[in-house]
Amino acid sequence: ASMAKGFDLTAAIRTIPDYPKPGIQFRDITTLLADADAFRGAVDALVDGHRDEQVDLVAGIEARGFILGGALAHQLSAGFVPIRKKGKLPHDTIRVAYSLEYGVDEMEMHRDAVRPGQRVLLTDDLIATGGTAEGAVKLLRELGAEIVAACFVIDLPDLGGRKRLEALGVQVRTLIA
Ligand code: PRP
Ligand code: ADE
Repeated sequence: ASMAKGFDLTAAIRTIPDYPKPGIQFRDITTLLADADAFRGAVDALVDGHRDEQVDLVAGIEARGFILGGALAHQLSAGFVPIRKKGKLPHDTIRVAYSLEYGVDEMEMHRDAVRPGQRVLLTDDLIATGGTAEGAVKLLRELGAEIVAACFVIDLPDLGGRKRLEALGVQVRTLIA
């Protein structure tokens, strides 16, 4: 399942033990992003499922979701909207608190980032507990977005994020477990 068009995405990801906290196996995608074939392969595999769907906007979660989201938006001829950690967006925002595998935080979107009914593809590098993605889903739905799907390079299935999103009625696409 980790082979996309001959590129071993799993091998392109680096694992850092005990980062950012003891006991966390941190899946570092900077090595994948620096590998031209792996980066292209990951982006192509993520867009493959969505070429036939009308996607108006890709929403990327700060920070690693921005890198993938920009590339996905370009491939899908869609716009891009950022979901940012609190205090970073300059105009009127809506905010949600969330927890993730190693902490708690708040994130925001511009109140005018999505018009009701627009079709949005949500993306991030990785889904662990799904707390971050669930927060993003809440923000997008508050703005009236129709969430086409949520897509991630990496799923950590033991942490239950995929099931959590599916329970919210969101279709989930991942490349590596
Ligand atoms: C990481 C990752 C996801 C989130 C997943 O981001 O990029 O956004 O954690 O965890 P969850 O499924 O348990 O919620 P992080 O908050 O470390 O931010 P960064 O991209 O700015 O480093
Ligand atoms: N976000 C949440 N858990 C993570 C992990 N294990 N590696 C990288 N990013 C993460």
